Amino acid sequence: MSATTYPDYSPGLQGVIGGLTSVSKITVEESRLEYRGYNVHDLASKGSFEETAYLLIKGKLPTQSELDEFNAALDAERAIPSQVIDALRACAPGTHQMDMLKVGYSVLSGFDPDYNQEDPTDHEANVRKAIRITAKAATIATAAYRIANGKDPIAPKAGLKTAANFLYMLHGEEQDDYTVLVMDAALTLYAEHTYNASTFACRVCVATLSDLYSGIVTGIGTLKGPLHGGANEEAMAMLMEIGSPENAEAWLRDALATKKKIMGFGHREYKVGDGRAIYLTEVAKEIGRRKGNTNWGDIADIMEKIMREEKNIYPNVDFPAAYAFYLLGIPIELYTPIFVIARVTGWSAHAIEQLDDNRLIRPSCIYTGELGLEYSAIETRG
Ligand SMILES: CC(C)(COP(=O)(O)OP(=O)(O)OC[C@H]1O[C@@H](n2cnc3c(N)ncnc32)[C@H](O)[C@@H]1OP(=O)(O)O)[C@@H](O)C(=O)NCCC(=O)NCCS
Repeated sequence: MSATTYPDYSPGLQGVIGGLTSVSKITVEESRLEYRGYNVHDLASKGSFEETAYLLIKGKLPTQSELDEFNAALDAERAIPSQVIDALRACAPGTHQMDMLKVGYSVLSGFDPDYNQEDPTDHEANVRKAIRITAKAATIATAAYRIANGKDPIAPKAGLKTAANFLYMLHGEEQDDYTVLVMDAALTLYAEHTYNASTFACRVCVATLSDLYSGIVTGIGTLKGPLHGGANEEAMAMLMEIGSPENAEAWLRDALATKKKIMGFGHREYKVGDGRAIYLTEVAKEIGRRKGNTNWGDIADIMEKIMREEKNIYPNVDFPAAYAFYLLGIPIELYTPIFVIARVTGWSAHAIEQLDDNRLIRPSCIYTGELGLEYSAIETRG
């Protein structure tokens, strides 16, 4: 259905303004992303994921004592009820990790002390829920992964922040400071991104006066797809298929000739580069140098150059994230769940913003079917 036939219709809602927000802003011409006015590059390189989570959920950067209190609240909330673990164990073998996350949050919702919150727009209750949702994300994700791989979940360790705790619960031992730093930066960069598909879906859900957990489950389901969060896993699969820098050019030219979408490239909003990718590319290449493995970074250099020259398309955050995570030894099926661990903060911030000034979201559509058909008895239909 083309825009020429229907001038009021924008396929994929491209360019359509879906709402007002003070959570984040993309400045396309400068490839800049700001969370509540702060450049995400500064938050990732100088701040921490927890400061970012506070900023998104509470609306301002914390003072040291506010951050200490926030960290203590997250620490106290990281554990998940045994019923959530039982539900994860009940999933069929081979269940997608993102589907297990949906199960985890669905079961968790009824255990939230604010579950029976009378007013779904109660700001303070929603903030309390957002903190619990944020605290438990890494615990659910690592439990789901370990259960799917025949291992027992590992309980969170008191005092470790989100990135360090995620790595601890995944591997069973604490990781080195640089690994934690890279994971913290990736979580910060993945935390929020304006009206992307999963955030919009989350807002649509809570705008019916459903609840925050339903909004999160909606967000997870929407993020699962390869055109959105699933792209980081697909990008790594592609890099592995290419294998080495010598194969990169021929592989890519062939893929472009056959009109394949190159995973980890392109973006609906950014047309001259994704600022998050620029920073994460530096980090990912540095990990490669530190680990003595520049293979993926070298393939990336060739692909980035050809994509820029041939298509004027730049990598998005999922491209460097893919090989950064790989170099850190993170299993590929956890790449999109890592996105969730970060993005629950952005989804929560948007859900709270939506509920603070709510209006049901219900767009119109153009009917393209027939009208006025005559109903006939079933035995007379050909
Ligand atoms: C993200 C994405 C869905 C945005 O798509 P969009 O705004 O709808 O843009 P379109 O898919 O309409 O693409 C516009 C043009 O660029 C091309 N293009 C866009 N992304 C491309 C990619 N990754 N590889 C090859 N070509 C691409 C399209 O083929 C199209 O070319 P055409 O006009 O000759 O047909 C798209 O870039 C994509 O599929 N990327 C790969 C998946 C991915 O990395 N997603 C994570 C996003 S953070």
